Order: sequence, then structure tokens, then C-alpha cells
Amino acid sequence: MCGIVGYTGKDVAKDILVTGLKRLEYRGYDSAGVALERAAADGSVTIDVIRRVGKVAGLESELAHIDANATCGIGHTRWATHGRPSVANAHPHTSCDGKIAIVHNGIIENFAELREALTARGHVFTSDTDTEVFAHLIEEAYEGRPADPATGAPATPGTHDLMAAVREACTQVVGAYGLAAVCADEPGVIAVARKDSPIVIGRGENGSYVASDVIALIDATRDVVVLEDGQFAKLTPEGIFYTDAEGKAIEPAVTHIDWDIDMAEKGGYPDFMLKEICEQPRVVRDTLVGRMTGGELDIDELGLTMEELNLIDRVYVIACGTSYHAGLIAKNLIEAWARIPCEVEAASEFRYRNPIITPSTLVVAVSQSGETADTLAAIRDARIKGAKVFGITNVVGSPVARESDGVIYTKANKEIAVASTKSFIGQVVSLTLLALLLAQVKGKLTTGQVRMLFRELGDTAGQIQWILDTQTDAIHEAALACKDAHSALFVGRGMGAAIAHEGALKLKEISYLHAEAYAAGEMKHGPIALIDPGFPVIAVATRSPVYDKTVSNLKECEARGAKIIVVATEGDEEIKQIADHVIYIPEVRDAFSPITATVPLQLLAREVALMRGCDVDQPRNLAKSVTVE
Ligand code: F6R
Repeated sequence: MCGIVGYTGKDVAKDILVTGLKRLEYRGYDSAGVALERAAADGSVTIDVIRRVGKVAGLESELAHIDANATCGIGHTRWATHGRPSVANAHPHTSCDGKIAIVHNGIIENFAELREALTARGHVFTSDTDTEVFAHLIEEAYEGRPADPATGAPATPGTHDLMAAVREACTQVVGAYGLAAVCADEPGVIAVARKDSPIVIGRGENGSYVASDVIALIDATRDVVVLEDGQFAKLTPEGIFYTDAEGKAIEPAVTHIDWDIDMAEKGGYPDFMLKEICEQPRVVRDTLVGRMTGGELDIDELGLTMEELNLIDRVYVIACGTSYHAGLIAKNLIEAWARIPCEVEAASEFRYRNPIITPSTLVVAVSQSGETADTLAAIRDARIKGAKVFGITNVVGSPVARESDGVIYTKANKEIAVASTKSFIGQVVSLTLLALLLAQVKGKLTTGQVRMLFRELGDTAGQIQWILDTQTDAIHEAALACKDAHSALFVGRGMGAAIAHEGALKLKEISYLHAEAYAAGEMKHGPIALIDPGFPVIAVATRSPVYDKTVSNLKECEARGAKIIVVATEGDEEIKQIADHVIYIPEVRDAFSPITATVPLQLLAREVALMRGCDVDQPRNLAKSVTVE
């Protein structure tokens, strides 16, 4: 995940920037860079940009050989989203004349149109990133824009004021940004802007600091301003000046940070797993950014033409573990909406079978890490047999991305806890988009229906937040009821069955409590024999076409003394008659229930694991990336 640092003051900036970038390393990145002011003997200032692919240590040794005593600079660690990891794509990015340099976190949704317009006005781009448009927009606002004969737009005068130019550029950008900019004509000034991407600012003894994460400032100060959306800041060696979008002075609140470094890395959460669970509303929003343009579903990195998509008559989803469970959900959606037969298979099985594959077969490979050995082998096998392969992964440029015909990147950002949580939500949202696209191409859903479903899909971000805000006490009580069990059963029907599988995997992998998932209708064909008084049965029984059937199955468990924990729909009071504990989720269309109903099960697994004294971030015997068969 990208990181920003900036410093202006009395000390040597490069050392402070490198220390800050190292503090941000834990978030994951693929390249790093800094922009430093260089003053010539005649007093003129230029901006040096130094960028490297790979570790901050590489950048540090390059800087060690550079005579840079600048006291103002900005730095960045990049986690690729638009464009592969490379020096050209690494930040900082500069204006055409090299006088302005910027670092940016976030995604610019309208970057393609902005880039086209800027190119038409003579700007030259040197990277594939969305970020670079910001550098050119600020340049135009600063220097002035020539008249545009193509559109008839008149010339506009330059602001010759970096802060004003940044504010002006922000009015043209749609999307999310945390931004820091420097300008050779205004030495010692760092201009900062924020919308939907974190920025913190602090004043130390010897200067002013900015970063995207408090951990990069903590050595200099513990009193920080957390910039809010639409606020701007001008950092100088002497002080910091805050304004609103009109340039009117404001006085933001100062927050005192009393976390230690370990807590700061976790954003103040006690563990990465909880931090990542709480990031899920953002993952939903980011994964959907730019996917509906001009009212049309847009998955341009698909690698398949609409004609090729229309020919698809069979889909295999291949994956392992949690990613496989995302596939179970996709099967329901692809078959229901696009009416294409869809099978979900563990990649480790698929690669050794002889599945029926024709040129009209689409294989969808799902992998958070993008390097799981079995999934990769299955991709290679499917391609040899003539299938089109589409990857869904969280890691840009990973083997799964490289070896597939097309790819959707989940925007979970780096996941550190071994147990997948936020990347699962990113996978489910991405697979839902794919199912919508297939349905639209096949003419099974109208454009209007697709738009409506897309809107509802976006609403799940707020629904997850509601669960995080209101259900922790209920989840804690349910965890107390499970913690001493030897085994637990997760049940559900339809979408609920798929969610139950993910819930059981989460619980067993981090709490070491044996857990199995069953389609609830299967209980009486065997598993019900396990139930004795006090045996925990965890059910997903949200409002859906199979709600009544699930409740009947739960009654069978209740009659045998099971302790019943239910994930139910808000307002369902009836369920309390059979449930010992109820965890509510907001009312949601059944198709989208996995995105919300999985969240309480992630939290339940974590609570049980903590109660049993387990390390939730690093469960025994497990690795984050499984690169061996
Ligand atoms: C469970 C978990 C694993 C992974 C599996 C596949 O929480 O993280 O089950 O889902 O090892 O990994 P990826 O998605 O990287 O291919």
C-alpha cells in the first residue's frame, strides 16, 4: 500500500524521508522514491527526483552517494495499481518542466480523460500512472493554461502560488487522493491535499512533517493533525497553515498519539487481522472505483472482446482455501444472472483431472497472493487445453496476473495477517462484477438492472461499517459460548452455505478449534450425530428464499441441545426463539449477503482465537503465500 512522507525544516531532508519510508515498509510496496530541492550557487533551485524499484534500502544506498543537503523534500513508497512496478511509474512524478514534483496515494477515477485532454494541450507523460495527471494539472494551474482552439476554452492566467494551484487541480480530479507537492519556484514549501486517503501532519522541533500514516511522524512529534477531506495544508520550515478548499484559513483539531511503534504499524488496532477486517468498507469502495463509466460496466483489463465473452458457455473457478470460497459465491451469481454453467474446483484437484475444456471455456483463477503454486499450475494447464484464463488477484504483476489473458485487481492493498479477510471481500466484489458483466453480455440482465445491482453492491460498504459499529458485543457473547468447545458446525443454505464454509475455515485456522461447514439440509444425513447438549452450531440464516428451510434445520439441532448462534437479518425477532445468540447484519439482497454476513464470522473467529490465547496474525503451520505444491 502506498505511503507518503514529507519534511521541510532545518535538518537534512533525505535522512528524515528515508527513516519515514522505512517506517512505512510494513504496508507493502514495490518501489520507492524521493524529490529533493537542490539550491545552486546563484540561489536558483531545481528539484532532484531519485526513484528505485525494490526496497527502501536500495534507495537509501543510492542517496548515500548523492550530495543532497536539501532541507525540504517529499518521498513515497508505491504499491502498483495503474502500471507495473518500474522506475518510470514510481513516485514522485513531475511536471513537464520538472519544476513541480508530487507524491500521491489513492486512485484518480477520471485520469484517462484528464490525460487525453492534457496530452492534447501539449503535456508529455512519462509514466502509465493515474498520478502523473496531478503533476501536469498543478503545472497548468501554476503557469497558466493556453487557449484551447479545439474546445474554444480561453487562456487562463497562472496562479504562481503552489497552494492555489494544488487547490485548483483538485477541483478537476474525481477520485481519492492524499497528495504532497513541492515546487522549485517556492523553496521550502510543501503543499498538501486530502480526499478519501489519509494524511497526517505534525510540527517537530526542527521543522514540519507530513505523512500518510502516523507511524512515519512518531519520532518527530506525537501531536498531529489528521487532515480531513477537502482540507489543505501549506508546510514551511517555520510553521503549518491550514485552509479549506476556498483557501480560507482553518484551525483543525490536534490529536495526541500515545501508541507505541507496534500499535502505530497496526493503525492503533491490537492486531493486523482486526485492522484488515475494519478496512473492508474501503476495499468494497476501492474495488468498485472506475467500474461504472458513463452508466456502463467497465472492466477494460479483461483481455477478452465482447464477442469472445458472448461465446463463453462454461466457467470454472479455480482457487485454494479462502479464495476457493469466493469461487463458491461466484458460482451462485454466474449461474443465477448469466445462466452459464459454473464449476468451482480446488486448483490442486483441477490440475490433476482432465476437465472438459474447449475454446469457449472461461477459467477464472482467484488468488490473493497471485503466486499459489497449485493455482498457477492449473492456469498453465487450462491454457494449454485452450481455455481463456482470467485472473483475480491482489498483487499487481504477480505470476497469476502475468500468466492470465486478463486480470481484475482486488484493491485490498497488502494483507499482512495470514488469515485472509479483506482480500476475500475484494475477491467477492470482483467476482460479482464479472458475473454482472457476463450477464449483461449474454443479454440476461438489462443495463438498467446492472446499474441497479452495481449501486446496491456499493451499499455493502456502509452495511459492513454498520456491523463493525454495532455488533461487537453480540459477537463477543457468541465467542464466549464457543471458546471451550472441541468442535463446531457452521451451516447455511444457498449463499449461506458458501459463507458457512468461509466461517469454518477462519475459525479453525486461527483458533485451532475444529470446525466443519455443511449445507444445512445435509445435517440429517450424518453430521447431526455429532450434536449433543452444548455443541455449537453457527448458522447463516439471513432473509433469503431458503430462510424457512434453514430455520427448520436449526430446529432439529435445537431439539438435540445444540448451542445455536445465528447470523440473521436486522429486525428478525423470530429467530431469537431458537437462537442462543443472534448477530445481526443489515437487510441486503441475497446475492450480496456474503459480503456482509462473512464479516461477523471473521470477527467471531478472531474473538474465539484471542480467548484461546492464539496469535491471530500468525497461526501455527500456515504461510501467507503457498508457493509449493
Ligand atoms: C485462509 C487463507 C488461505 C488462502 C489460500 C490461497 O485464510 O488465507 O486459505 O486463501 O492459501 O491463497 P491465495 O489466495 O494467495 O492463492
